[in-house]
Amino acid sequence: MNLNQQIEEWLSTNKNAFHARERPFVTLSYAQSLDGSIALRCNEPLALSGEQSLRLTHQLRSMHDGILVGIGTVLSDDPQLTVRHWIGHNPQPIVLDSQLRIPAKARLCCRADKRCWVLTTVDSQDVVIEGLEITALEGNAEGQVCLQGALKLLWNRGIKSLMVEGGANVINAFLKARLVDALVLTITPQFVGGYKAVNNLGSDSGDDASKPLRCAFPKLKPFFSERLGDDLIVWGNLDYGDYAA
Ligand SMILES: NC(=O)c1ccc[n+]([C@@H]2O[C@H](COP(=O)([O-])OP(=O)(O)OC[C@H]3O[C@@H](n4cnc5c(N)ncnc54)[C@H](OP(=O)(O)O)[C@@H]3O)[C@@H](O)[C@H]2O)c1
Repeated sequence: MNLNQQIEEWLSTNKNAFHARERPFVTLSYAQSLDGSIALRCNEPLALSGEQSLRLTHQLRSMHDGILVGIGTVLSDDPQLTVRHWIGHNPQPIVLDSQLRIPAKARLCCRADKRCWVLTTVDSQDVVIEGLEITALEGNAEGQVCLQGALKLLWNRGIKSLMVEGGANVINAFLKARLVDALVLTITPQFVGGYKAVNNLGSDSGDDASKPLRCAFPKLKPFFSERLGDDLIVWGNLDYGDYAA
C-alpha cells in the first residue's frame, strides 16, 4: 500500500469511528518548513509542498465535505480550494471572515460549481456578493466567528467532515479550542525563519518556578510519519489530555 492509500484508509476509518457530536470531524492539514514556518511573512503566499505532497493535499480535500480557511489566507493567497491535482469531488469552500473583508473579485467568488460559504459576525442581511452565501453568527470574546457555533452550523448543513487548511490564526484557534481530530502535516526540508503556524497555545505553565515545566499540550497519539518525495508527512490523531488553553 502506498502512502496515499495508507492515509486514505486511516482517515476513512477515523471519520467512520467519529460518532455524531453535532459537529464535523475536523482534519487539520498544512505545509510547514523545518522551523514551523507556513509563509515567509504573514499575508504572503509561499509554495512549500513538493509535487507529491501537493497531490496528497488535493486527495485530502477530495475526502472531506468542506474545506475551511481564514480571511487572512483568502487575502494573501486568493485560493480556489478545489481539487485539481487529484481526481475527486470539490469540497464546499468555507471562509471565516468576521468583518466581511472578502473582496468581490476573490477567486472563491467566481467558482462555477459552488458558492463559497462566508461565516461572519456582522449583520449581513442586506449584503449580497455574487458567488457567496453569507451567514452571520455569534462572535466570540475577541469578536471573531465562534468556532463551536460555526461547526454546529456546518454540521446542520450536511458537512460531516471538514478540512482546515490555515492560516496560522485559524490553526491556532482550532487547536486552542480542542477542535482538531486529526492532523496531516507536510514538513519540507528547509529553514524559512518566517511566519509560524502555531504561536501561542496559551497553556498554563503553573507558577512554581522551581519545578521544570510540565505543561499539557495537544499531542499526536498515535502518530505516523513517512517520506513523500522530498517532504516528510506526519499524521495522526489529536490527544488533548489535560490541555486547556
Ligand atoms: N503553508 C500552508 O499550508 C498555508 C496554508 C494556509 C495559509 N498559509 C499562509 O498563512 C498566512 C495567512 O495566515 P493568517 O494567520 O494571516 O490568516 P488566517 O488564519 O487565514 O485568517 C485569520 C483571520 O480569520 C478571521 N477569523 C474569523 N474567525 C476566527 C476565529 N475564530 N479564529 C481565528 N481567526 C478567525 C480573523 O479575521 P477577522 O477578525 O477579520 O475575521 C483572522 O484574522 C498567509 O501568508 C498564507 O500564505 C499557509
